[in-house]
Amino acid sequence: MNKTANTIISGTGISLPDTVLTNRDLEKMVETSDEWIVSRTGIRERRKLEKGLSNADLSEAAAREALDRAAVKPSDLDLIVVATVTPDHPTPSTSCLLQTRLKAEKAAAFDLSAGCSGFVYALTVAHQFISTGVYKNVLVVGVEVLSRFTDWEDRGTCVLFGDGAGAVVLTAGEGGRGIIDFSLHSEGRGAELLMIPAGGSAMPASTETLENRMHFIKMNGNEIFKFAVKVVEENLTLMLKRNGYVAGDLDHLFLHQANLRIIEHIRKRLKLPQDKVPVNIDRFGNTSSATIPIAIHEELIAGRLKNNSLVAMVAFGAGLTWGGLLMKW
Ligand code: ACO
Repeated sequence: MNKTANTIISGTGISLPDTVLTNRDLEKMVETSDEWIVSRTGIRERRKLEKGLSNADLSEAAAREALDRAAVKPSDLDLIVVATVTPDHPTPSTSCLLQTRLKAEKAAAFDLSAGCSGFVYALTVAHQFISTGVYKNVLVVGVEVLSRFTDWEDRGTCVLFGDGAGAVVLTAGEGGRGIIDFSLHSEGRGAELLMIPAGGSAMPASTETLENRMHFIKMNGNEIFKFAVKVVEENLTLMLKRNGYVAGDLDHLFLHQANLRIIEHIRKRLKLPQDKVPVNIDRFGNTSSATIPIAIHEELIAGRLKNNSLVAMVAFGAGLTWGGLLMKW
């Protein structure tokens, strides 16, 4: 690729619903226990979006904060990419709803669906436009309202997910900072391991699909667990190696937050200390496309993420998809 500019993250923002759903609350809804959920997943509580609010509301709040922190006006945005599997509607895209709310008149806008890898995919797409000099300012949002697609009678999934949004503004920069490399993958043979079967053109909504609860997330957790621990480490190691780094060089590793046991397994295999691998799954559950941008924002605001730090992000999810990105912050 003909690279003319570096892609830097110049502002971040998050938005989380006020409503907290604790493990104790779930004990009253399905046959589960705080002890089981904490020991198997690391999750203590998650957020649930209030009735009347939607994906676009979470996206807008996170986006406005990111734009403010980046000191970029909505009217200067060239592109908006919203990574989500829980948009407001099948069509139009949530990114178009966001574009008009922000009055980002000149921005092109589209949604991107890559499961929980959505944010890393979207950053990579945005990076192509900036590094080639085509666009100067791009807004990327990772956002989910998974509570609306969760079967609250299925203890195997309802304890896992949460709602939230994280946004970043990407701008063209100079010097040694910015995105260094990325590595995206997919394996459609694993599509059925994590799926919302109905509501699309293959299985439109009908009385039967509603009765059979086919509009909710169905997941084979064990298989996804095995897949995740394998591909995350492989992908990261490959990306580091081809750029002359080893895991120990990383200042921050942002892993998708699907299960604390997956995060800890990978962290230990790479021999990284806990403070280099942020965790938010205990407070927010698995927010899919939003887990990584939320973690990045929290580290930045806490003053732990500094300019020129070597940062990696690695995610995996429905599709199956997985993806990594390496950058000098
Ligand atoms: N409370 C109590 N018991 C439960 C619960 C619950 N909430 N859920 C399942 N169990 C039971 C099962 O029924 C099973 O009982 P049995 O032995 O009598 O049959 C037992 O607990 C063990 O079930 P497993 O599924 O084997 O439990 P496991 O330790 O594998 O944990 C989990 C399940 C947490 C889902 C794990 O497999 C996991 O996290 N997988 C990865 C999932 C993932 O990453 N998903 C997202 C990827 S993409 C994205 O982020 C959208």
